[in-house]
Amino acid sequence: MTADSDGVSQVAIVLGTRPEIIKCAPLIKACDRRGVDCLLVHTGQHYSEDLDQVFFDQLELPTPDYNLEVGSRSHGEQTGRMLEGIEDVLDEHVPDVVLVQGDTNSTLAGALAAAKSNIDVGHVEAGLRSFDREMPEETNRVVTDHISDYLFPPTEETKGYLERESVSGEIVVAGNTVVDSLYEYRDLATEKSQILSTLGLTEDDFYLLTAHRAENVDDRDSFAQLLDGVSRFAAQTDREVVYPIHPRAQSRLDEFGLTLPEEIRTVEPLDFLDFLRLEAAASLVFTDSGGVQEETCILGTPCVTLRYTTERPETAYVGANCLAGLDPDDVVEAASTMLGKHADWDVPFGDGHAAERILDTLAAGAEPETAEVPK
Ligand code: UD1
Ligand code: UDP
Repeated sequence: MTADSDGVSQVAIVLGTRPEIIKCAPLIKACDRRGVDCLLVHTGQHYSEDLDQVFFDQLELPTPDYNLEVGSRSHGEQTGRMLEGIEDVLDEHVPDVVLVQGDTNSTLAGALAAAKSNIDVGHVEAGLRSFDREMPEETNRVVTDHISDYLFPPTEETKGYLERESVSGEIVVAGNTVVDSLYEYRDLATEKSQILSTLGLTEDDFYLLTAHRAENVDDRDSFAQLLDGVSRFAAQTDREVVYPIHPRAQSRLDEFGLTLPEEIRTVEPLDFLDFLRLEAAASLVFTDSGGVQEETCILGTPCVTLRYTTERPETAYVGANCLAGLDPDDVVEAASTMLGKHADWDVPFGDGHAAERILDTLAAGAEPETAEVPK
């Protein structure tokens, strides 16, 4: 199953969550520039204004052609409902190729619906592996990679994982579309965002925290440990921590009756420009997010990852990220090492033209040798 050499006239993009909207934006815009019809299918996995619509507005994206409004459910029910809805859309439109991005339930459902409908699937950000099958995202990535016809790993490292697993699709190292997005918006964020003054923060004098991953926040002890390590380091260094809190984490905090340490201030989830401004201005970022590990590396802010594994090891290899786990002593040690680190590392995720490279590949019917990303 590969597109013929006449290229593609219609690409369907299936997305459903905040990071997918941000990382698919360059693809949607590249389709528009080339006159390729882009059928946009939103699963409705994220639906709160501040995880969803705010990004469509700020990144100037078209309203999705379909919103399946699947909402929050158990993994099986959520994925199953998406599958049904996407299949109906694909039956009606029969696009040349379906693109999915990342590792969410929406990613898996989009890929599976396309594969079952005998339509080519392209996986953007293929080949990432944490080697931790307890993470729902790892299952989603592995299955998606093995049913994809085109695989777009961001780096040579991730391409290597795909080759070792003998995936059957065409592999093209494309870079990560998050670089495309950041190169487009980082200067605008510095110019336009007022978030530092709104929150009363001074550049290079605060820490940023994001934590939403199920394995961290759905377990009371793990969540408490995570907050303890970060707040201890903040107290030692006399700095405040700003935590734009994901709704999953906020519900768990309420449910567990956890009291936030005084060093940590939660705020509502931020729009893209405000969040980029904080990432760039923070002296250190603590996170369990995949996208935030990449973005801090690109923006030159040292990062401490509050997990035991990462599927973005390139960020650690270049010296931008330290994998600390959750033990408070380890978090404090990692933060001490990373604080003040000079951002002289190379960005390992490509040159900001990933979306163009992906569409070039689809148009050519996958010719990897014409599409290698420069280091
Ligand atoms: C999902 C992805 C995760 C990704 C994250 C990005 C899966 C398995 N997980 O996790 O990989 O890192 O998105 O943010 O696909 N909620 C709202 N409003 C919303 C959406 C969710 O309040 O718009 C709340 C609901 O209480 C819901 C909970 O957040 O139960 C979790 O949402 P869900 O989409 O299941 O997973 P995420 O934690 O967002
Ligand atoms: N992000 C944002 N506002 C926030 C927190 C994150 O715009 O308050 C953006 C961030 O810049 C990145 C993406 O959301 O592009 C990361 O999403 P998330 O951490 O939810 O998911 P993950 O990357 O872990 O899948």
